[in-house]
Amino acid sequence: MVAKIRKAVFPVAGQGTRFLPATKVVPKELLPIIDKPLIQYAVEEAREAGIEEFIFVDSRGKSIIANHFDANPELEDILLAKGKYELLQTVQESTIPPGCAVYSRQEKALGLGHAIWCARKLIDNQPFAVLLPDDLFFYSPNCLKQLVDEYERFGGHMLAVHDVPIQDTEKYGILKITKDNGLTVIADTLVEKPKPIDAPSNVAIAGRYILSPVIFEALDKKIIGTGGEIQLTDAITATLDKVTCTGVRFKGKRFDCGSVNGWLQANIYLGLQREDINDFLLKYLQKLGFNCENDKI
Ligand code: G1P
Repeated sequence: MVAKIRKAVFPVAGQGTRFLPATKVVPKELLPIIDKPLIQYAVEEAREAGIEEFIFVDSRGKSIIANHFDANPELEDILLAKGKYELLQTVQESTIPPGCAVYSRQEKALGLGHAIWCARKLIDNQPFAVLLPDDLFFYSPNCLKQLVDEYERFGGHMLAVHDVPIQDTEKYGILKITKDNGLTVIADTLVEKPKPIDAPSNVAIAGRYILSPVIFEALDKKIIGTGGEIQLTDAITATLDKVTCTGVRFKGKRFDCGSVNGWLQANIYLGLQREDINDFLLKYLQKLGFNCENDKI
């Protein structure tokens, strides 16, 4: 029996320079996809996958994320008095219950591995999930739940993976695969953002992980990797004499909302999925001259 995954780490310290000037004051994680902040999609995904404790690794200027997940009694009173019950529910659903959200500061941008290390005291030697909020997934069961289901069979480290065009390997952590079972793959090495010519495969990590706490033994060593940063991929590789690393080819769509193009795609995709917006959006696109039937998008 593997331990239940109850805790999730959300690294939210990044600067979001690709969205300047929007992110000069507002954290990129609070930019909306239609009408909900990006980070809230990841929190809801985690909650649906069984997560009970939400650990945010943030940085200076990001405290407003904690405010977003706090209750807002003044606003709730106004919505109640005006009879706006649906909006009231929306506001209440975005609140994380007291004692279930914790925040740790990453003082310097030293890499994803370092961000996860900043959560070490909050993990209690249990396996835990990591969700990179820039990566937005749509599917039911959601991406983290797909990992949790496979974790119950395999244990060890679990990574959401997808097959990418070989010219894109420089954007991702790439797996060196020892066994490919179709839905799952077993890896014995991970390489962070290799050039296509050096890539051991085209199987890339997407931003969802379940990690064994043994990862902190490697992260404690603070080894600098690609881009001069402490890389999570290197730490995972360093622990593979102790635990296995399984990649799960996730089902569903993924959008890289850390890029303007991916963020725009996610807004359009979700707009076309949402019943309250679909009709308006299609008509507007048609008015602009796009001949798009919904099922071809
Ligand atoms: C991070 C990880 C990388 C992973 C990617 C997924 O990179 O370091 O291994 O493939 O997320 O989105 P980043 O995109 O933060 O540079």
